[in-house]
Amino acid sequence: MNEFRSVVLGTGSALPRQVVTNKDLEARVDTSDEWIQQRTGITQRYIAGEGETTVSLGEAAARRALEAAGLETADIDLVIVATATPDNTFPASATQIQRRLGITHGFAFDIQAVCSGFVYAMTTADLYLKAGMARRALVIGAETFSRIIDWSDRTTCVLFGDGAGALVLERQEAIAGEGAGVLIARLRADGSHGDKLFVDGGPSSTGTVGRLRMEGREVFKHAVGMITDVVEDSLGALSISAEEIDWFVPHQANRRIIEASAKKLGIPLGKVVVTVDRHGNTSAASIPLAIDHAVRDGRIKPGDLVLLEAMGGGFTWGAVVVRW
Ligand code: ACO
Repeated sequence: MNEFRSVVLGTGSALPRQVVTNKDLEARVDTSDEWIQQRTGITQRYIAGEGETTVSLGEAAARRALEAAGLETADIDLVIVATATPDNTFPASATQIQRRLGITHGFAFDIQAVCSGFVYAMTTADLYLKAGMARRALVIGAETFSRIIDWSDRTTCVLFGDGAGALVLERQEAIAGEGAGVLIARLRADGSHGDKLFVDGGPSSTGTVGRLRMEGREVFKHAVGMITDVVEDSLGALSISAEEIDWFVPHQANRRIIEASAKKLGIPLGKVVVTVDRHGNTSAASIPLAIDHAVRDGRIKPGDLVLLEAMGGGFTWGAVVVRW
């Protein structure tokens, strides 16, 4: 029997021009390169400058993904942008990117699940493609967290960076159980943890953008358990073991969370794609950024089994397994 799958045709990413090192941050807040590296694994991050926004970075990533896929903008009939830092409250960043790409058909919208945004967006795109409501989707994670950071708060400002990544997905017919494409997705949310990681403003509450607030230790405490639980659920539903995973591409929040999750799942560190050291935590952009780097340097290849997972504000979390 045949079924429809969402197959990855191309990837792309974009980073701002400006690199900010831990040493640079030492001049801004009471911190040290040693503390940041030891607690997070981060050595530098990219910070958006003048003219660089979520939409401009997302557009650049999308163009590279389209080029890699060998497609024209006209081939796309669905644009989903995962972001918690849109250029405007509305219209959606997805429609702004659609406009820059010159796409006037199909449909486009944003998804807001903070750091889990890309996993939520992939899952959503997969459902639309499988249902036949769209043929080819651009799934973009794009963020400029530097614009909602409290730059006087050393407990958060050292953690985040800006960037964007994009995947092109195509609806393809496949023999059930065989071939490439998204194999499974599992999403979770538990709003009772909302006060552990939030932005203290918004259009309807304060009329301001607000600044990011986080109880880092509390987030850390829940992260590994939530991540491994949803991953084990996904692998169990596919009847595959962690050993069969070729590449694990986790959300890049903190090297300690990534390593602890991989260890608990039984995935060797040699199969884990890590970019948090160079990019910091780019929220919804971190997974597609890491994927694009691993595809372009030849690690992720056609036929590989790739596991994605993320956990973030809300709390929200989830996992996606893709055959490349
Ligand atoms: N530089 C130097 N010292 C610092 C800094 C800093 N930048 N930040 C905090 N400290 C100090 C604290 O004040 C504290 O000092 P004290 O002991 O005198 O009170 C000490 O370092 C230890 O602080 P902790 O918060 O206990 O440090 P911890 O080991 O938990 O590391 C961290 C903090 C890195 C934030 C960690 O808790 C973490 O990674 N949490 C998860 C965060 C995360 O992943 N967030 C993203 C989720 S995704 C999303 O949706 C955005």
